[in-house]
Amino acid sequence: MQHIRHCQSFLIRSKSLKFSNSVVASVSVWDGRLSHRWQSSGSHQRQESHNERISKYRFALAGLLAGAGAVLAYNLRDGKPERADTSGQLTVPETSSFPVYSLEEVSKHRSLDHGVWVTYKGEVFDITDFVALHPGGDKILLAAGGALEPYWALYAVHQQDQIVNILSEYKIGVLNTESYREQEKANSSDPYCAEPTRHPALQINSLKPFNAEPPASILTDNYITPSAIFFKRNHLPVPKVDPETYKLEIEGLPGGVVALTLNELKSRFPKHTITATLQCAGNRRSDMNKVKHVKGLNWGVAAIGNATWSGARLRDVLLYYGFGPEVTTKARHVQFEGLDRDVTGVAYGASIPLNKALSEEGDVIIAYEMNGEDLPADHGYPARVIAPGIVGARNVKWLGKIVVSDEESESHWQQNDYKGFSPSTDWDTVDFKSAPAIQELPVQSAITHPAEGVSVDPSAGEVTVKGYAWSGGGREVVRVDVSVDGGNTWHVAKLRSGDEEQKDTALPPPPPGRAWAWKLWELDIPLPDKATELEIVCKAVDSSYNVQPDSVAPIWNLRGVLSNAWHRVKVKVSDKH
Ligand code: MTE
Repeated sequence: MQHIRHCQSFLIRSKSLKFSNSVVASVSVWDGRLSHRWQSSGSHQRQESHNERISKYRFALAGLLAGAGAVLAYNLRDGKPERADTSGQLTVPETSSFPVYSLEEVSKHRSLDHGVWVTYKGEVFDITDFVALHPGGDKILLAAGGALEPYWALYAVHQQDQIVNILSEYKIGVLNTESYREQEKANSSDPYCAEPTRHPALQINSLKPFNAEPPASILTDNYITPSAIFFKRNHLPVPKVDPETYKLEIEGLPGGVVALTLNELKSRFPKHTITATLQCAGNRRSDMNKVKHVKGLNWGVAAIGNATWSGARLRDVLLYYGFGPEVTTKARHVQFEGLDRDVTGVAYGASIPLNKALSEEGDVIIAYEMNGEDLPADHGYPARVIAPGIVGARNVKWLGKIVVSDEESESHWQQNDYKGFSPSTDWDTVDFKSAPAIQELPVQSAITHPAEGVSVDPSAGEVTVKGYAWSGGGREVVRVDVSVDGGNTWHVAKLRSGDEEQKDTALPPPPPGRAWAWKLWELDIPLPDKATELEIVCKAVDSSYNVQPDSVAPIWNLRGVLSNAWHRVKVKVSDKH
């Protein structure tokens, strides 16, 4: 099979591409533009209108370019175009009879007025009609008149059969050999080529950008999660930051813009250490996916971890650089920008309320250490925000800029992601402006032992159950209830706030409202008589007597965030292992 082959004339009037499932696409070419007519193999014919396409693909790509490497749902036709192979690569069969274009010709089509053409693996696509369907909207235009590969390398989630299939429908031709070779050379750089080495135990949700969690079975072996297995949630490539030249900019204070070196950050302000749990808004999204498909990485129960973080208090830094009463009258938020940037140069960003940032009890720090060492590259080296009690998304890594502002961050991740909606809100009705950005997270707990589906030996007469519990906003977990009969009867778990075997790491009770760290819990529960299967359930209660909801469906939401229903694990009772 060769990748590119010269083919026949541009003046092809009509060509039939055969699809599986007896669907035939009749494709006509006029002036280098395509229209598709979908025709079933029976007598029923219909023209697929632009509107139909919009409703079919609308939001299928939501969050894709701008939104975070989500694993997405595609409402696709059953058929596969003949040119997509299972590796997600387009290959040009020897008999290709599509028009041949040069890169120069393709490059003339970079606007909606002149048509939007792109190339991918040597094939040419007119995606003018698709621009309106792409939630990343104008970002797709960056590739107009050239190759998609550099953008798909950055947002590698594109590289899957379904997306290649969508693209295939817009094919209008192939590149000539010379142009294709030229492009291949240019496309060879991978923005993820300098990523850090990761621990092999991590279970990878997406490689590029890197998103991974530890196996639940080892998550609660330590009160302090070792950095190597702490979940990693990146939206973009990990930036390489030189500590010598690193500068942290601060804007929005009376003295104008200031820039702080790493050394100044470390030496000018007292080092403040906190133990805090960080949880991704998508932790336990897989439970929501079981109820109804949601868009996003399919996190299990381990997109959460507990670490010690050291750095300068944000409050100290803001006060040092002139924060005063005159700023308070206007400012409401503190925005953060990361040094990781997307293809348009836009940085990852988020914000937190000003009162959290300034409060002495808020404990927000610009951390430069995690678990007593320099921050690892994946966790934001050389400095990141740790806003304890607040959703992971606002804890901006590779911190490049702080802005004190009357507005929230304009970032996609603050405005159009990480928000909760009613179970009845779908991608056709969602209005991101109507919901507040998630800040403090609700009460959460999960079972980490035993694992789903294992067999429990009945001769022991009891089953040991372990897990974690945590609540946002500094609310302390005061109780965890555990059931082995699906929630009919309950047992109260023993909570621990440190490694009790090592007395010096056992923490004193946190001051009220500042319980940033999780509690690990454990208990042995007698096996019910003659049980052959157990449904183990846990639910935590926090210091405000908030308790987890009992089921997922009423809290289901289209992005699968805030998934905190009672955690349920089914095991067998059997001496056969
Ligand atoms: N900061 C930057 N600059 N870029 C990112 O992609 N991801 C956010 C947050 N801060 C992110 C970021 C999200 S969604 C989460 S859950 C946490 O970082 C994850 O932090 P961790 O990777 O250290 O566990």
